[in-house]
Order: sequence, then C-alpha cells, then structure tokens
Amino acid sequence: MPTVMNCCLFIKALQNCFCDYGHLSVVTGDYVLIPRSTNWRLEPHEPMFLLMIECSDGSYGLPEKGLVGQHAIFDPAALDVPQINAAFQAQYSEATTQVLVKRHNQVATITYPFNPLDAIGWHGDLSVVRLNWRDIRPLMSHRYHLPPSANTTFVGEGFVVCTFVPRPIESDPGALKVPFYHNNDDYDEVLFYHEGDFFSRDNIEAGMVTFHPAGFTHGPHPKAFAASQSNPKKRTDEVAVMIDTRHALEFSSAAQAVELPDYVYSWRSA
Ligand SMILES: [Fe+2]
Repeated sequence: MPTVMNCCLFIKALQNCFCDYGHLSVVTGDYVLIPRSTNWRLEPHEPMFLLMIECSDGSYGLPEKGLVGQHAIFDPAALDVPQINAAFQAQYSEATTQVLVKRHNQVATITYPFNPLDAIGWHGDLSVVRLNWRDIRPLMSHRYHLPPSANTTFVGEGFVVCTFVPRPIESDPGALKVPFYHNNDDYDEVLFYHEGDFFSRDNIEAGMVTFHPAGFTHGPHPKAFAASQSNPKKRTDEVAVMIDTRHALEFSSAAQAVELPDYVYSWRSA
C-alpha cells in the first residue's frame, strides 16, 4: 500500500482507488489529487500507466480565473470525491498491512495488524478529488492564439499543471494557428502526450514525454508548421499534460535510459 506526498495522478486505465476517504472508481483520463499523508491504494484491473506529479513543497490549488470567473475551464461541481460504499466496506480487514511513507526521498514502512483504510465516514473539505479531462472546457478565441497558461488546471508550489484538450483552431485568417516559437525564460517545460494526434509535433506518440529546459527555443515542427499554412485543421485532436516548473529539473538516470537523443534535431527540415 503506497503512500506518497501530495500528488496528482493522470491515469491511463480503469482503476479502483481506495484511500482514507473511501472508494473512487477512476477511468482513463482522470486526474486524481491526493493530499499529503493520505493513505491510498490503487487496484488495477489491467496494466496501469500513469503520470505521477508530486508537489513535494506545498499543496495543489486552482489557478486564478480572473475575468472569466470561477466556473471557467471546469465547473467545480465536476470534482468527484471518494465514497464510503460497499466496495470500500468490502476491503475492511484485520490482515497485516504495510504502509510505505516517503519522506526526504526515502521510503519507510509502517506495519499495521489491520488495514488502516477503515473509515466509516468523514467530514470537512479536505479530500482526494477526481477530475477527468473531458470535464475541461478550454478557453479559446477565434482571433487570438491564447498562451499555454490559459490551459492551467492546477497550481503547485513552483510549478503549474496545464491540460491541452481538443478545441477548435482559430478561424480568423490572420490568427496564429499553431503554438508560437518561444523559449521559456523562467520555466522548464515538460509535456506528457496522453492521446490523439499531436498537431504541432512529428513522431510523437501517446505515452511519450518531451522536456524543453528554460532557454531552449522551440515551437512547431517544420511539417506541422507547413501543414498549418497549406491545409489548416479545423480542430485539435490531442490530450496532453504540461508541467512548467520554476526550478530547474534534474534529468534522472531512468529518464536518460529511455531518452531519444536525436529529438533535439527534429526541427531540421527533411
Ligand atoms: Fe514550449
């Protein structure tokens, strides 16, 4: 039974999630926000793929909605919480249970002579919450290509989590129709490709991650840029998660082991 710090999961399979607050059915495309020190367990029905984002120095919140108001992007009523239901009660147990607790990047094990996921009710406004990307209603303008920050879903301490979901492409002839060429002055940029046709990138498939550190100029790949000029699409058909971090990311040996070193050359024309 793993327990991790305040984290956000982006799921790619149907799962049962059990936690201190009850049982939650989670499906492909769900975000699951788990508060720090919550006990939780995922029971996969099938091989499980997920993106885990730990907010190790704070807690998750929602972005400022400003002019567009609190119901923009997703209705807060779409947030789902666990239930103390029959599935949860069925896993009450006196079986010896281990809880893994991560602190200072080390994992300690606490052994209980019972399953500590044994709540019979709860009260308050702290809970695990679930949000599916299909509940996100993206902001857009027919004349103005909105910056990526308009797709912010959650705000952590020193980073943001943004969700790119299908939307109409700008229709005004003078509007920019692909992401602008840019570098990030202050933020490292990680993109996780969940599903769909990733319109600004070549040779990107679901499950891949791109990493553009601050100062690295990038933008649409040549073929994608040319297609946007000659045969513009009417809609995007992609779901991707972006994590922009204020602090420089470290590139782990696990990431290096699967790196595609030629990615940096993918902006070359064929
Ligand atoms: Fe970027």
